[in-house]
Amino acid sequence: MAIYKKENALSVEQDELKKQAAKHAAQAVESGMVVGLGHGSTALFAVQALAERLRRKEIDNIIGIPCSQFIEAQARKLGISVSTLEKYPHVDLTIDGADEVSARLDLIKGGGGALLREKIVAQASAREIIIVDDSKMSEFLGEKWVVPVEVIPFGWRTEFEFLIRLGASVKQRKCEDGAIFQTEQHNMILDADFGPIHQPQELAEQLNSRAAIVEHGLFLGLATQVIVASQEGIRELTRE
Ligand code: A5P
Repeated sequence: MAIYKKENALSVEQDELKKQAAKHAAQAVESGMVVGLGHGSTALFAVQALAERLRRKEIDNIIGIPCSQFIEAQARKLGISVSTLEKYPHVDLTIDGADEVSARLDLIKGGGGALLREKIVAQASAREIIIVDDSKMSEFLGEKWVVPVEVIPFGWRTEFEFLIRLGASVKQRKCEDGAIFQTEQHNMILDADFGPIHQPQELAEQLNSRAAIVEHGLFLGLATQVIVASQEGIRELTRE
């Protein structure tokens, strides 16, 4: 799975902000750490920033735990040692992007399709640093982004109807060529637009209760820190 192109592809200036947030987060990595490497364009900037720190010998001996095959390939290419959660079940620090961040520092993730592995790695991490440009900040999740829901193919239509009953408008995710998007677990993604979500915990519990829903993109209480880059500079937000 490469970087999945989103409909609202961000501009060059926003890419520059993502890069600044990524560089800032990479400073938190210390020698000897096991580091979760998220998926997406911002997370890729963090991988590049880490490789640069290794090259400059500012840090050494880090182990990356990639959240996707794409990021794994990129990390290897840049000379970062990678391993698996099987060998390193506890991650010191993960750096990952997000599609939307609420005022409570809850997240929507999965625009790139790697939400399942990203959530597994986030739950295994002592610290989860999220890096975003300021266009992704909102009061309530769902104001700007849909909730990606990963479903197993056997039950996808049933879960599609379930999401509609919950009040969402739902699209089965497709690739640019029209083929059905497949996650690395060979599942599908249903993008569910709920509008602003005032009770994210309640919604997460409803989604968690369904057998064919493997995981969803509501990351609640998982981010320990959010680094937001804007034209005015970098802001560090920490969960209280
Ligand atoms: C990947 O599955 C996602 O969770 C990404 O972290 C999220 O979509 C942010 O992607 P960008 O950094 O490409 O905006």
